Amino acid sequence: MSKGLFISFEGGDGSGKTTQFRLFAEYLRNRGFDVVTTREPGGTRISEKIRNLLLDPECTEMASTTEAFLFAASRAQHVEELIRPSVDAGKIVLCDRFVDSSIVYQGFGRGLGESVKAINDYAVAGLYPDATFLLDISPEEGRKRNGKTGKNDRLEKQSMEYHTMVFEGYRKLAAAEPDRFIVIDASAGIDEVAESIVKAFEQRYPDLKPQRK
Ligand code: TYD
Repeated sequence: MSKGLFISFEGGDGSGKTTQFRLFAEYLRNRGFDVVTTREPGGTRISEKIRNLLLDPECTEMASTTEAFLFAASRAQHVEELIRPSVDAGKIVLCDRFVDSSIVYQGFGRGLGESVKAINDYAVAGLYPDATFLLDISPEEGRKRNGKTGKNDRLEKQSMEYHTMVFEGYRKLAAAEPDRFIVIDASAGIDEVAESIVKAFEQRYPDLKPQRK
């Protein structure tokens, strides 16, 4: 059986990433692909336990390095238990956030720099996405949208400066790896953004067909 595809979705808080992620999964399933949807931090029993710790508003004393290791630990389990076996089985794995989130949030946002890439290289053991959709939106607009959802976990309560670093960090990563990143203007309406994602995907994989079972 030939290998599947691994696609991640990235974007700052309030970029509409999770909505677009769901719509894209629906589109792929309607086309007949065997799709696995998952998220980070999380995606497996153990990784979800680590997620609860990471997002707990009471964990105010968590050191930045602890945070970076916990994200990487959660990811190592996720890759080993779910992502790699699914890709090897020929499925399309859609992951809501992956290593790029750690590079921008912990590396750029928390100032941990290059070490974040190093611990993640170790955690994922060579498994990087084939394609990454970056839902590009300014932190100001993202925050406005987020205000409406009322979400307020430990990581979302960061300063505007932090979110700006994250936004700029994503743009730097996308510029450094233009073959992997597909940058989508996320400031448009839901339907328009969904259409741009599908169009970009079809352009990148014009000959992709569901495997016959
Ligand atoms: P989540 O509720 O899943 O938010 P979102 O809808 O924005 O994806 O929370 C994930 C939070 O964790 C989000 O603020 C980004 C942050 N995060 C990191 O800081 N590093 C990481 O490696 C990952 C995967 C997420």
